[in-house]
Amino acid sequence: MKLSDARKDQYRKLAKENMFRSRSAYKLSQINKSHHILKEGMKVVDIGAAPGGWLQVTSKIVGLYGTTIGIDIKEIEPIPNVITIIGNIENKEDINKLINTINGKADLVLSDLSPNVSGLWEMDQLKQIDLTEKALEFTKMILKENGCALYKVFQGENTTEFINYLKEFFLNVIITKPDASRKQSSEIYVLCKRFRKKDLIK
Ligand SMILES: C[S@@+](CC[C@H](N)C(=O)[O-])C[C@H]1O[C@@H](n2cnc3c(N)ncnc32)[C@H](O)[C@@H]1O
Repeated sequence: MKLSDARKDQYRKLAKENMFRSRSAYKLSQINKSHHILKEGMKVVDIGAAPGGWLQVTSKIVGLYGTTIGIDIKEIEPIPNVITIIGNIENKEDINKLINTINGKADLVLSDLSPNVSGLWEMDQLKQIDLTEKALEFTKMILKENGCALYKVFQGENTTEFINYLKEFFLNVIITKPDASRKQSSEIYVLCKRFRKKDLIK
């Protein structure tokens, strides 16, 4: 067994033991451990949230006075104190439904969006960036001033361009790769802190 497969197995086993719905739960936990993005009482929106590992991690930390909302094209099994919406981030009506559910501004937007992978790498990577751009457009509508966002990005030719674009809206943009993310996978996580309306950034 390769080391990377062993690590994948280790997180799968841990997720099962700790009743997390996905290995991905550890990616968010590890990012949070280093960067402290989740806090009690926060209002958090998770885009591409199924099966719900990130929602489990988030709701545990934001607690009963916080709000956790997840959207996905796939149904998400209920999680206590979590609101879920079946919807597509590319669909205007679904976005409006999400905005109405949030009812105000969010403190943090999370996006772990992945398209259905076709196996054609360039196509999948372009689609993933395209979806993440939709998540950013949505973020601009609902994130409060100085809020944070975390985006999964499949690395490719256009990654630098996308990250530079993110820098137009956030004062602090950090690239991170948690241990639970396989070394050979092209995914990275871009943590964006201190949201500013574009015209405020010099
Ligand atoms: C890697 S999974 C997310 C795992 C999740 N973070 C967890 O911890 O359980 C990526 C998700 O993105 C969702 N997705 C893909 N395209 C979408 C879209 N257009 N709108 C909403 N969700 C989408 C997929 O259905 C899939 O569930």
